[in-house]
Amino acid sequence: MGYDAVNVGEKDLMMGSRFLTDLTQKAKFQLVSANLVEKKNHQPFFKPYVIKEISGLKVGIFGLLDDRFRPALQEKDPGLTILDPFMTSKSVTQSIRKNCDLIVLLSQLGESKDRKLARENPQIDLILGGGGEALRAVMERVNETLIYRLEPRGGYLGRVDYSIPDIKRPIQFLISSERDELEKRLGRLITRTIQIKAEIAKAGRPDEMKAKELKFLESKQKEIEKNLMAFQDKNFYKHIAIPVQLSVEDDPKIMKGIDQYRTESAKLYQPRAPSLPEKGLSEKEMLARIPKDSPFVGAISCKKCHEANYRNWLKTKHAKASETIVASPRYAQEECLICHSTGYGKIGEYATVDEIPFYLKGVQCETCHGSGRGHPEKGRMQSKVTLGVCRNCHTKDQSPTFNYVAYLEKIGCNLKK
Ligand code: HEC
Ligand code: HEC
Ligand code: HEC
Ligand code: HEC
Repeated sequence: MGYDAVNVGEKDLMMGSRFLTDLTQKAKFQLVSANLVEKKNHQPFFKPYVIKEISGLKVGIFGLLDDRFRPALQEKDPGLTILDPFMTSKSVTQSIRKNCDLIVLLSQLGESKDRKLARENPQIDLILGGGGEALRAVMERVNETLIYRLEPRGGYLGRVDYSIPDIKRPIQFLISSERDELEKRLGRLITRTIQIKAEIAKAGRPDEMKAKELKFLESKQKEIEKNLMAFQDKNFYKHIAIPVQLSVEDDPKIMKGIDQYRTESAKLYQPRAPSLPEKGLSEKEMLARIPKDSPFVGAISCKKCHEANYRNWLKTKHAKASETIVASPRYAQEECLICHSTGYGKIGEYATVDEIPFYLKGVQCETCHGSGRGHPEKGRMQSKVTLGVCRNCHTKDQSPTFNYVAYLEKIGCNLKK
């Protein structure tokens, strides 16, 4: 994809540094990390930075890893450690400053530490942030340092454009929107001027109205050109997040790799026996198959007394939420079942749809109302179902159009309305 440098993140090291270096041996990009070092001599394990010549400018790119991952790293890689990112940042920028026009930090530190770093080290021009707690895209500015981060999970490709006629430090940047707006207006004025001139020429006789308009357009044009002069020799930036959605065509070469990965990893998947298939069972048989020690008893157990809720629920997408993911590769289903089934992580173990017992399939009554074991004889159910319950699954990523009021209408439980 044409990367110049890639920062090492804590998840890249999950299988150990050896695994990562083996994987990236043939890579055409450079892995950088300034504070991931050998424990014995504090020598960087990867290159701490790269310096690239881009459009005649020397751009230094270095990477930092959050030192709160130090204990986890040392479990896998006792020979490595992570140095304090703030101190490391200062020593790196000190050593490359004189060779670089611009310094870019690829940061894994998260929003608040990025901000602190920018305050403490004005030598960094641009921080491209990842990791940490943020779930939203931000472009912010701390003094003259820009911090840009996008939403996680690779849904967007971020782009920052610079125009830098004046490289004297400290480089001061203006956001280009005001200038761009003037340029757009100028463009429109020029188009209209050409149009009018053509109309006058075509008519072949003087037209007072058109002549007046032409004069007005020309004076406006001069005014804008004068205003634009004020922006000359100034440095600008602009940024855009490009959504990488279905409208962007898949690269056939990459897709081939993904297919190969799917085929090979599917071989590693060991299917277990499907548990408790409900096909062909009568209601009585189904009820009999629900283990007595299971805290969840399934919608079928509620049917007898809450017939209307049950019938409505059957029609909702919640009732079918496990079937929806059948098309997904089996080895990947476990990740989906966190939200596309009931009691995941709380009860039993299942990794694929065909392993889930029927009373845990889909988003059952008990995901919202709590365990139904012992109700109504011994206990009441949760009747207040709050927004927080929905948000466990209807996250911003998975349910971007979620609206509590509108969605509540469609769950089959608001019988009064
Ligand atoms: C964090 C919870 C969560 C995880 C994890 C999750 N989903 Fe979903 N999924 C949802 C929610 C919530 C919806 C409903 C979104 C809406 O309609 O607003 C949904 C909707 C869907 C739909 C659309 C169904 C329709 O009726 O249009 C499909 C398909 C789907 N998910 C498949 C998957 C697969 C495959 C995985 C695993 C790789 C997965 N999901 C993982 C929560 C999740
Ligand atoms: C997605 C979450 C969700 C699921 C799944 C769900 N419910 Fe509900 N249920 C609610 C909410 C929210 C309310 C309150 C609705 C309202 O007041 O508009 C409610 C209300 C109820 C009530 C009335 C409670 C009262 O205080 O009077 C009953 C009974 C009920 N649900 C039973 C069921 C049964 C039985 C099922 C399964 C067949 C089920 N629910 C599935 C969320 C859910
Ligand atoms: C044997 C009949 C019976 C069964 C089975 C039953 N309920 Fe109830 N449910 C009741 C009665 C009766 C009430 C009213 C309790 C009260 O008002 O004290 C009730 C109340 C509720 C309420 C309102 C909150 C409360 O506890 O007062 C919810 C929510 C609810 N049930 C959900 C469920 C769900 C979900 C299931 C299945 C897991 C289920 N019920 C199974 C009889 C039943
Ligand atoms: C355990 C996870 C989970 C919880 C909790 C949950 N949902 Fe869902 N919801 C899903 C999944 C998964 C889907 C997608 C089902 C499918 O089509 O496969 C979904 C779909 C829906 C849909 C259907 C959307 C459509 O396109 O028609 C509505 C409406 C909905 N949920 C409302 C709610 C509300 C309201 C709450 C909270 C009271 C809630 N859900 C709680 C997982 C959950």
